[in-house]
Amino acid sequence: MGISFPENFLWGGATAANQCEGAYNEDGKGLSIQDLMPKGVMGPVAQTPTEDNLKLIGVDFYHRYEEDIKLFAEMGFKTFRLSIAWSRIFPTGTELEPNELGLEFYDKVFDTCLKYNIEPLVTLSHYETPLYLAQNYDGWRSRELITFFERYCRVVFDRYKDKVKYWLTFNEVNAVLVSPLLGAGVWTHKSKLTKQDIYQTTHHELVASALAVKLGHEIMPKAKIGCMVVASPIYPMTTNPDDIISAYEKQRELMFFTDIHVNGEYPRYTEKLFKDYNVNLEVTEEDKEILKHTVDFVAFSYYNSKCAAKDESKFEYVNGNIYRGIKNPYLEFTEWGNQIDPQGLRYILNYFYDRYKLPLFVVENGLGAEDELVVGENGEKTVYDDYRIKYLNDHIVQIGKAVEEGVEVMGYTSWGCIDLVSAASAEMKKRYGFIYVDRNQDGTGSLERYKKKSFYWYKEVIATNGSNLIE
Ligand code: BG6
Repeated sequence: MGISFPENFLWGGATAANQCEGAYNEDGKGLSIQDLMPKGVMGPVAQTPTEDNLKLIGVDFYHRYEEDIKLFAEMGFKTFRLSIAWSRIFPTGTELEPNELGLEFYDKVFDTCLKYNIEPLVTLSHYETPLYLAQNYDGWRSRELITFFERYCRVVFDRYKDKVKYWLTFNEVNAVLVSPLLGAGVWTHKSKLTKQDIYQTTHHELVASALAVKLGHEIMPKAKIGCMVVASPIYPMTTNPDDIISAYEKQRELMFFTDIHVNGEYPRYTEKLFKDYNVNLEVTEEDKEILKHTVDFVAFSYYNSKCAAKDESKFEYVNGNIYRGIKNPYLEFTEWGNQIDPQGLRYILNYFYDRYKLPLFVVENGLGAEDELVVGENGEKTVYDDYRIKYLNDHIVQIGKAVEEGVEVMGYTSWGCIDLVSAASAEMKKRYGFIYVDRNQDGTGSLERYKKKSFYWYKEVIATNGSNLIE
């Protein structure tokens, strides 16, 4: 018996506005933090948008969305995950009226998806806080952002209620712990922030997320609204009970965000955690009421697992886009130093489902690699990306196993289904797509699209509902 997936499984791909749209200042769009982050999270912020910032043009999805969505349809996508750039709708974030041209753009994008029977899966905020809010309010450190975000949500829910059924609130909401700038638009340098600052910022985002769920359910009773987190199993580095406890604590720190989204209140363990961290949160009675509006499903990105130990100094660290952990000697690595652990995906799916008993959605997963565009056997340019096919095959197989074990999985959207600018280091050469975009690291290139070998492979995966996968 091969791997099988539910009949209505939502196969697709995922992107984020700031990494693919470009058109950073067109049609009334305001700047977002990304426009001043030419080197991603790794580098310093710039004073103004500079040409070396590849995101300003991205892969020009803003002008090429029709061609791109048509290609997704050719692969058979059932869903397409994308984000709305908040600063396209409210250029500074503080306006009372939205920018009509920004709204029209997403109307066109969603209409194109629906024309091909592709369900849009929309992230409300994907690492793109309006710059004005970052610079003038210190992003989500300020409680006032809840009001601005509520206004933005109301506008987009009202406008797209008949077009979009699946919504996600904040992308990787738990990333705020490692990058308050990326995750929450906090302009103050991380080194100057205390745990109190970070958890208060987090609290504002969690309240805003629950408020979005509340509003969304009121405006769109049939909509499904989920939270979205970075998911990563944290394995103990050794069987030493000290390491096991340490891994457990680290895991819980990541789960804290989903615990609140699913249970509607702060978990009991936070009392001790906050005491240890000297954190004294400002939580109003109204906040507590809002938090009770819990999500319909839990969505997450999965790229790798991590290891933890009580004394980490004895071990070597590895990268993980944003999060780092200790090197696992049993695993191989991507070119960018990410551990490759397909079974970790099955592990985390089971872990989440046991803990929450809610449907799960794998909304990001994929291999960032350097691709070589060559002339293929049929004379057309292509990329022979067997490495990507293997990576995705092995991960999707593990989702199939979790499904077999009883986990409810709504769908799978592989990250960067079309090449786009990477998040952590803002590179073009780190590619994830089934579709190659002719844009080089130095910004040159025709922006033409080419189908990679993986394009045809994924098309077959979708057409056979996974039965062509190799165990
Ligand atoms: C996730 C983000 O953390 O990882 C995406 O939600 C990002 O925005 C993806 O692109 C891959 O990371 P990177 O740095 O390789 O682009």
